[in-house]
Amino acid sequence: MAPVRDPNTLSNYDAWRTRHTTANLKIDFTAKCLRGSVILELESQTDKASKEIVLDSSYVTVNSVKLNSASSLWETKARTEPNGSPVHIAVPEGAAKGEVVKIEIELATTDKCTALQWLTPAQTSNKAAPFMFSQCQAIHARSLFPCQDTPDVKSTYDFNITSPYVVVASGVPVPDETKDLGEEKLYKFQQKVPIPSYLFALSSGEIASAPVGKRSCVCTGPNELKASQWELEGDMDKFLEAAEKIVFPYRWGEYNVLVLPPSFPYGGMENPIFTFATPTIISGDKQNIDVIAHELAHSWSGNLVTSCSWEHFWLNEGWTMYLERRILASIHGGDAHFDFSAIRGWKALEEAIKEYGEDHEFTKLCISHKGIDPDDAFSTVPYEKGFHFVWSLDRLVGRENFDKFIPYYFGKWSNKSLDSYEFKDTFLEFFSAPEYSDLKDKIASIDWEGRFHSTGLPRKPEFDTSLADVCYELAEKWKSKDFTPSPSDVSSWTGNQVLVFLNAVQDFEEPLTVEQSQALGKAYGLSESKNAELKAAYYHIAMRSKDASAYQGVADLLGEVGRMKFVRPLFRGLNKVDRELALKTFEKNREFYHPICRQMVEKDLGVSEAANSS
Ligand code: BES
Ligand code: ZN
Repeated sequence: MAPVRDPNTLSNYDAWRTRHTTANLKIDFTAKCLRGSVILELESQTDKASKEIVLDSSYVTVNSVKLNSASSLWETKARTEPNGSPVHIAVPEGAAKGEVVKIEIELATTDKCTALQWLTPAQTSNKAAPFMFSQCQAIHARSLFPCQDTPDVKSTYDFNITSPYVVVASGVPVPDETKDLGEEKLYKFQQKVPIPSYLFALSSGEIASAPVGKRSCVCTGPNELKASQWELEGDMDKFLEAAEKIVFPYRWGEYNVLVLPPSFPYGGMENPIFTFATPTIISGDKQNIDVIAHELAHSWSGNLVTSCSWEHFWLNEGWTMYLERRILASIHGGDAHFDFSAIRGWKALEEAIKEYGEDHEFTKLCISHKGIDPDDAFSTVPYEKGFHFVWSLDRLVGRENFDKFIPYYFGKWSNKSLDSYEFKDTFLEFFSAPEYSDLKDKIASIDWEGRFHSTGLPRKPEFDTSLADVCYELAEKWKSKDFTPSPSDVSSWTGNQVLVFLNAVQDFEEPLTVEQSQALGKAYGLSESKNAELKAAYYHIAMRSKDASAYQGVADLLGEVGRMKFVRPLFRGLNKVDRELALKTFEKNREFYHPICRQMVEKDLGVSEAANSS
């Protein structure tokens, strides 16, 4: 039997594999929980050798378990961190290899559920109805219902969800089967492409929708609908067409975007059929929709072809960064754009590695997750180190050849999960074909072990810096204390160019003076910007300059966005210059943040849950 290759599951998925999941769940806004039943159809991988099924669970109440419709013996074992409490279900007779058993679990989520956020009507923009959404990646699906919570197992899904408000899920809606049940409605969705548990997703609330492309609509609160439609409608079809040209046709049917309330903890989450997205991408200037190109790219890298554990997460995110940059370059005109984005990524990678220290385990491409919570190991590293590895392979064999490898790789591993070594084998196998014999020496020179397991930065590639140079030139000018800025310095730039400039200023050996920092904010309209990226980057400069007049602005921003990419660094920055304000701001907004975000900020600020409730 193959050894289990995911250290973040307690399930015995080498003995049983979930093939189909039916989720019959009622969204109870009053009790703030999901309740109902989940039916797992599991295929035996052994010939009657395994007499129990072990599932992952975390803070979920199991009321009963049936095995093939008969009540069965089961036990939730003690919790261990970071993987939770396994549920052991007896299968006294075992099952012949290939036989499918049905496990029906009656359950309810608890108030410790880490996957769900419940918003009161007062916490929504039109104040009319409550709202809820899930975020399961990486290992939070187990807090919704017991399951084989590993990206190494894929299942098809039926969603039967009851709610008083509109429901969105990570399946194709089956509107004909929506049923009125008085105060509530039953919403049905189907996911016929097998997906890992971390892609299970639900949201419900007052949600309106508008078309934004041939296969796409945007869903969001009624007040936000027009702006969201405007932001996305010009580009959705272009993104899809570009991605299909690079890989192969989109296999999921529809591609929609759900724009969530501001506490959504990520930029985007690639839930199939409905990408979940932060409202910070609706910035009124189309400057932040690269997030959508990224989430769409996951439809191939991640959702169709999946890393088998969080140790090989770069296969999802590094490949997705590569596809995202290819998609955007093909729309916005070529290599200079691709390199500009790659330069930004390189900068983020340098910063992450500096922050960890260059010998840190989390700076490796493949990160050991034994005893590690994937949320703790999460960083830019798998994204950008992964991107640089994929891009280096592209340059090594040449674009024309690499473009043939891309559909081969995604075709071969569709609906499966793989590790880094299987990726290596696939690459070597493809390029061992006689037509690539001239590449033999180049391919033999790849240091796979070094790439997978070295800490720190990889070798820096030569970038086309044509779009970044102007940003560095302006930054140079700011080194002189008597430089007088003018709005026209940046008025013709893209938001991302302004960001590159701000990052360069942030990196000066000497911080700006308070006066300079204030002049910067004023001249370029940064503290009033609707673009949270720009605002956050500016506030980091202001905090480094110890411009106390900016701290309240930081605190205000922390009450407006819950996206961890902004929230965590801003809290760390504010904590350094004004710990009291940081703690006060966290307490004030505690309920606003998603549970995952709350937990991470608690760790960052060194305040524990227990300390706060006393
Ligand atoms: N899959 C990730 C988000 C994620 C990763 C959630 C790990 C939970 C655990 C998503 O595709 C992502 O990478 N989002 C980025 C978008 C950006 C790179 C364009 C984000 O949220 O910032
Ligand atoms: Zn991603």
